[in-house]
Amino acid sequence: MPRTTDALTFALEFARSPWDVASLAPSAPPVCRALALPVPETGDPLVVELGAGSGVVTQEVRRRLGGRGRHLAVELNPRFAATLAERFPDVDVLHADARQVPDLLRDRGLQADVVISGLPWAAFPTGDAPSLHQRLAGAMTAHGAFTQLGYAATRRAGPARAHLAHLHALFEEVTTSRTVWRNLPPAVVHTARRPRPCG
Ligand SMILES: C[S@@+](CC[C@H](N)C(=O)[O-])C[C@H]1O[C@@H](n2cnc3c(N)ncnc32)[C@H](O)[C@@H]1O
Repeated sequence: MPRTTDALTFALEFARSPWDVASLAPSAPPVCRALALPVPETGDPLVVELGAGSGVVTQEVRRRLGGRGRHLAVELNPRFAATLAERFPDVDVLHADARQVPDLLRDRGLQADVVISGLPWAAFPTGDAPSLHQRLAGAMTAHGAFTQLGYAATRRAGPARAHLAHLHALFEEVTTSRTVWRNLPPAVVHTARRPRPCG
């Protein structure tokens, strides 16, 4: 899809449901690359993408996989989900709430090697027991990696700090990228590796 059409569609969906869509525009290329970076260059990994939107990160994951492994893209918005299914026939596109994903993986006997989250994480409280991120960490392989989109403007605010502390409790290693100023809004990518056995 041309980037301008993509941007217009995205802005329209943001106007319809600002809380769910959370950003005015699809992620810029450096953010997409950082989110997809843990996708390994060899083997047949299971990559789970949450909040895939219009597919800019999906495309980067396809490029890195080069036809290997399995790619599940989950999207709550029906119009984005339909676009994804049309654009990426090789991707297992699920029009669903990301909250269903841990159970879905367990029911299918699957463990994710990489989970990529474009979800607005403020919408998923860390106080829930267990939290979505805790359930996701429990649905990953021991050497799995998790990436989460975050916004520079809110990263020092209480909820974002609580989420980051939560990631540190769930994973052995957590790093945060530099701010990508050319994203709308400016963004960071948190990368967490190796889920702790009990979360
Ligand atoms: C900030 S956008 C990111 C879109 C895309 N990954 C990108 O980087 O351009 C957040 C996306 O998460 C989706 N979303 C929000 N809540 C969701 C949920 N509970 N389950 C699945 N998708 C959700 C929104 O519809 C939206 O497409």
